[in-house]
Amino acid sequence: RTLGAGRRGGASPGFARGRRLRSTPAMRRLTAQTRLAPADFVLPVFVKQGITEPQPISSMPGVVQHTQESVRTAAAEAAEAGIGGLMLFGIPADKDPVGSQADAADGVVNVALQQLRADLGDELVLMADLCLCEYTDHGHCGVVTPAGVVDNDPTLDRYAAVAIAQAQAGAHLVAPSGMMDGQVAAIRAGLDSAAFTEVPILAYAAKYASGFYGPFREAAEGAPQFGDRSTYQMDPPNAAEALREVAQDLAEGADAVMVKPALPYLDIVRQVADAVDVPVSAYQVSGEYAMVEAAAERGMLDRRRAILETLTSIRRAGAGTVLTYWAVEAAGWLR
Ligand code: PBG
Ligand code: ZN
Repeated sequence: RTLGAGRRGGASPGFARGRRLRSTPAMRRLTAQTRLAPADFVLPVFVKQGITEPQPISSMPGVVQHTQESVRTAAAEAAEAGIGGLMLFGIPADKDPVGSQADAADGVVNVALQQLRADLGDELVLMADLCLCEYTDHGHCGVVTPAGVVDNDPTLDRYAAVAIAQAQAGAHLVAPSGMMDGQVAAIRAGLDSAAFTEVPILAYAAKYASGFYGPFREAAEGAPQFGDRSTYQMDPPNAAEALREVAQDLAEGADAVMVKPALPYLDIVRQVADAVDVPVSAYQVSGEYAMVEAAAERGMLDRRRAILETLTSIRRAGAGTVLTYWAVEAAGWLR
């Protein structure tokens, strides 16, 4: 009103005509404040040892556990689609209390990284999720005491070893997701000691203990065998603590930070984006994927429209990068 909207031609209705800039698709495209591009997306992928055919994941229609061969095809398609990168998760054939396969040179993710790096070079960013839960027989993200408590400091040594193995295998970036205190400092020191000073750390800095990880635990076969992750992942009611976790990870040497999950935590994405001067990612997790797929399958919503709306909302909240299981498909829609 103060800008005099509607004054032209004498008509002065006393209200702003916001509809003027919504009149045509071209007008809306011109004035869109948030844009999506394939390079904004990172595709999480699962590679399983010892299988000969990709295995569908029942709670994530359209997502599979890859073989060492099929992940190469999927990665080539992802590169072709122009997405920003891949986040690799591995499911080993053998698990033990300390997750030995995570840093074995012939461990499932490390073999995949070697092959993908050889296939694709630097065409897209190969990210390695750095955690132990897929590799431990108890399914926790760290080593546990005899009493069954996740033991923070001994876990840090394991993480440093895994980081070095992943960098050695060809990871362009490591992404610690275990929510142990001091993990970024330990991993940075480990990488630096092995001359991987140029490998960045994307810290899952504000990772909440979420019900939306359910389908992932089927996909990655990493559900805790006892207890849950509430003693190390963040409590959903907390927001100020996310800023503290982010500040701590940056102080320890993180190069970029992540908020996870995305949709139920868009307020956190916004607060983190406003607070830091490093790249911010958000992880649209398995349960977010599953709920849209399930509703779409029942005809309850327009699948493509809903997916693009969620991706837009995450970018609008301030995330530069979105980890999403729809990365390649959405990139195709944006072409
Ligand atoms: C494990 C890990 C999880 C996810 C990524 N890394 C699950 C968990 O913490 O239980 C969740 C991803 C998803 O749900 O898509 N460190
Ligand atoms: Zn974990």
